Amino acid sequence: MKHRITLFKGDGIGPEITNELKRVFKALNLDIEYDEFLIGEDAYQKYGVLIPNDAIESIKKNKVALKAPVTTPIGKGFKSVNVTLRNIFDLYVNFRPAKSMPGTLSKYDNIDIITFRENTEDLYIGDEYEIEDGYIAKKKITRTNSERIIRYAFEYALKNNRKKVTCIHKANILKKSDGLFLDTFNAIKSEYPTIESDDKIIDNMCMQLVMDPKKFDCLVAPNLYGDIVTDLIAGLIGGLGMAPAANIGKDIAIFEAVHGSAPDIKNMAIANPTAFFLSSALMLDYIGEKESANKLKNAIEETLKEGLYLTRDLGGNAKTYEYTDRVISKL
Ligand code: NAI
Repeated sequence: MKHRITLFKGDGIGPEITNELKRVFKALNLDIEYDEFLIGEDAYQKYGVLIPNDAIESIKKNKVALKAPVTTPIGKGFKSVNVTLRNIFDLYVNFRPAKSMPGTLSKYDNIDIITFRENTEDLYIGDEYEIEDGYIAKKKITRTNSERIIRYAFEYALKNNRKKVTCIHKANILKKSDGLFLDTFNAIKSEYPTIESDDKIIDNMCMQLVMDPKKFDCLVAPNLYGDIVTDLIAGLIGGLGMAPAANIGKDIAIFEAVHGSAPDIKNMAIANPTAFFLSSALMLDYIGEKESANKLKNAIEETLKEGLYLTRDLGGNAKTYEYTDRVISKL
């Protein structure tokens, strides 16, 4: 079947891993056409806007986008284009599955945790204002947005035979905002009696994830805690190079890895493209190319298991393109 997707090659390691992905898609004989756009700093330099209008129209039309990471200046400069895109299209679910794979440096095996991170509010509204001796940052938690992400997590668990959903919060301190998230969770969980449920305060959650990650299955969290625990969980399965993600809304989805633009390893050909490949496999599933998605996942797993061509973050010395070549040879 023919597909047309919107593609952002991003910056930092983004263009490198996007090139590798295009080679993989070609080897899979997929009939995919790309509408490619610059975003972020590169777009700003060229067009004077961070997200060109054509890119927004293209996502509206194609309904599916694949996005390599984009740099956001720290402590100054423009608002994250990642957050902006999620808001424009109301992509309220940040779906982050993390599964142990062979061949990584992880001390754990058999981790299989899916995090459902609320993707549109919390501190990410970026509403900060000055006070006499500093700043206050506003945190927004609404009933409607809490309800839809929590319900999504339970529905997913039900349909995909998952056993348990854990709610992450800090309602001991943030009694109103996180209190609302937790109350919403407690109200909804009774509608799903076949699924086990519990809740954990974010600090305790981090400790328990490191001590015994196998006791967790699905997690649902407001935006910031979801962001933090998914980097932590990425560390448990071998690092950020291994963690895929999807931003999902009512009828539009944008697929991207958990990791950022990794400017420290830009243009060194040592980036691990696995997380981006796995995010693309999620996209292939989403657009109905299940066979290709499975082929890709299996080829990645075989390459990792064999352990001959691993990138530096996994303890090997293969270049990004050598690892990709090996994956392609196993498709
Ligand atoms: P990062 O995720 O880019 O990198 C953290 C560490 O992990 C670095 O040492 C990096 O080399 C390593 N790493 C990340 N991805 C890797 C890969 N595929 N293979 C091998 N090593 C990898 O996080 P950082 O440095 O905090 O952020 C850099 C920039 O990325 C910032 O501007 C940030 O805002 C942006 N960012 C963008 C995201 C997106 O576009 N979705 C998500 C997260 C951060």
